[in-house]
Amino acid sequence: MKILVTGGTNGMGKGVAEVLAGADNQSHEIIILCRSKQLGEKVREEIKVKTLNEKVSLVICDLTKLSDVKNAINDIHSKHTYLDGLFINAGLGYAAERVETEDGMDPHFQVNYLSHFMLTLNLLSLLEKSPTGGRVIFNVTEGGKINWDDLQMENDWGYEAGIKQAMAAKRLFLIKLDELYKNKKNYCLSFIGFQIPKTVWTNQVNIIPAPMRIIATTMKAFGRFITIEECGKIMFPLFVEDQKDSLKKSGKLITFKNNEWKEMKEDMTVLNPDALDKLWKISLELCADEETNQIAQSLLSPE
Ligand SMILES: NC(=O)c1ccc[n+]([C@@H]2O[C@H](COP(=O)([O-])OP(=O)(O)OC[C@H]3O[C@@H](n4cnc5c(N)ncnc54)[C@H](OP(=O)(O)O)[C@@H]3O)[C@@H](O)[C@H]2O)c1
Repeated sequence: MKILVTGGTNGMGKGVAEVLAGADNQSHEIIILCRSKQLGEKVREEIKVKTLNEKVSLVICDLTKLSDVKNAINDIHSKHTYLDGLFINAGLGYAAERVETEDGMDPHFQVNYLSHFMLTLNLLSLLEKSPTGGRVIFNVTEGGKINWDDLQMENDWGYEAGIKQAMAAKRLFLIKLDELYKNKKNYCLSFIGFQIPKTVWTNQVNIIPAPMRIIATTMKAFGRFITIEECGKIMFPLFVEDQKDSLKKSGKLITFKNNEWKEMKEDMTVLNPDALDKLWKISLELCADEETNQIAQSLLSPE
């Protein structure tokens, strides 16, 4: 399998990349999308040494910049003729203040959602060429709401609200994609929202303020966290399972409990068709990219 992981330099993305690289006789190829070349090279080396898998490559992209996303898309298309999987994972977590992106957006909205919207749409053609059945796994959590009147959270900002809005946006996006693909004659891609059942001990612990770190460390002592490797092992089957099993999960928000995949109840606000269309339209406007618009148009037009 050839799988692209966004945010594979730390946390959940790194856990998934490592487990995939080490599994099935090192047969899987991993592409890590990351913002720092230096950190990316270090992680690539670490994974190679640990798993003996040589097929780990990098795509450099800072998701706070749509111009970087555009370059990354071109880079991926120039090097790959297909992709089997995409892990939509990279995310900004704790932030002390709202640092608007160069594109004038809320950083959580752009990094965690919008840049991934543009990336995913532009990689669908590669996923459609997957010999094993392309799949996109979204790292999401339940809840959250879209602040329609203040999407960029200029008037009322909080990092948690920013994370949650992006989570809701990612779920709206995957449901829309699933709907569009289910209407296609050659229904072939799956779009799965996965919520990790336990909190993962990630790089976030190094970013949060000291008092929060003390609480987290205490909770860790009580077994409230799992490691990034454990996270990778839980998520691994989603990337390699048979296409028919993957398609059964498409369009759903799922988790893994008591040794099985469980579907979670999705919010009515996220299932609202008007909200799906509204966010889709706004996202295309914000990307302001001709190619992305054409891809969206072709998905909407009947075959
Ligand atoms: N931890 C959990 O328990 C948990 C649970 C559910 C969902 N999540 C979600 O999972 C995702 C990953 O979180 P994590 O806990 O694994 O955090 P993490 O350890 O901080 O990892 C975040 C990853 O995203 C990358 N990233 C951040 N900003 C970026 C940007 N502008 N451009 C490109 N890459 C960027 C980071 O790159 P660098 O290495 O360069 O910083 C890193 O690889 C987030 O969306 C989070 O909300 C986490």
